[in-house]
Amino acid sequence: RDIRLVEVRSEIAAGTRGASLGIEALKIASLDKKSDFFTKFDPINVPDANNYLWKGNNFPHAKYIDGVYQVLKNVYSTIESLRMEKKFPIVLAGDHSTAAGTIMGIKAADPDKRLGVIWIDAHADLHTPYTTPSGNMHGMPLAMVSGLDNLDCQKNEPSEETLALWKRIKKIGGDSPKIDPSDIVFITVRDTEAPEDHLIKNYGIKNFSTEEVRTKGIDQIAEEALENLKECDQIYISFDVDSLDSSISVGTGTPVPDGLTVQEAIELNVKLIQDKRVCCWEIVEVNPTLDSENVMAENAFEVLEATTKSLVDNF
Ligand code: ARG
Ligand code: MN
Ligand code: MN
Ligand code: MN
Repeated sequence: RDIRLVEVRSEIAAGTRGASLGIEALKIASLDKKSDFFTKFDPINVPDANNYLWKGNNFPHAKYIDGVYQVLKNVYSTIESLRMEKKFPIVLAGDHSTAAGTIMGIKAADPDKRLGVIWIDAHADLHTPYTTPSGNMHGMPLAMVSGLDNLDCQKNEPSEETLALWKRIKKIGGDSPKIDPSDIVFITVRDTEAPEDHLIKNYGIKNFSTEEVRTKGIDQIAEEALENLKECDQIYISFDVDSLDSSISVGTGTPVPDGLTVQEAIELNVKLIQDKRVCCWEIVEVNPTLDSENVMAENAFEVLEATTKSLVDNF
């Protein structure tokens, strides 16, 4: 497959500063491991909106939503063009809100194809400005692309301006939802809030727990995850590094116990990406400012390199 590396130094949608440095940390990790991985690509740089951090935030229930809107539009148009050329984007991003832009781009390039999502994460990222406990928009990408508000579980009163921007974000790449929530498969999601649990239950979204990954084994889980999406024509895989166990590293904004080992994450991604329907893979949320000795980036780099290698022969 014809891979293009895409770099998005986003961080305004995370609650902690530093995720925009995640890509640099992955590159340092590759040097320390004496890998030539990054010499093989001519990466595309998607403009970020990190300058919004200095302007201040006017949207407590959707922080920096004006900047997030710009970044998502940039990601969307980059991914749409790549998919029109049948390229396989490997996306390195900071905060996880970018995944919404990626999904919008994939969908816009092939509007008639049903798109499924495999979301490997400690979090469900299904919040909306109405339900978010933090206002951090990296907790919202899957609601953006599913067109959800989740008013059944409303907790906040977002301002008119916030809601106008939220609507605009959901319309990037077309008015209709880009995916059906039941075409999401979660792996290792283990830190959710009640409004997210409500959606997971309502839409029957499958979540393979870390324990299930261990008892059934990686091959079985991969098969079942793909079987769950058997009606989908295309599949996007999103790998949030906080799916890894927090004992491995705290070099991410929201570390959570009871996650995967690095070896499990490698085997899982290597296996999943071999399905011919998979058309894009993304890795997010490495934050070296929260780490010690770049351990998270080193582990994340191993996952990135192994997964990419399994896509191409003679890499
Ligand atoms: N559910 C929490 C929130 O909305 C955490 C979200 C973390 N998301 C992430 N991509 N790390 O604040
Ligand atoms: Mn997460
Ligand atoms: Mn929580
Ligand atoms: Mn996430």
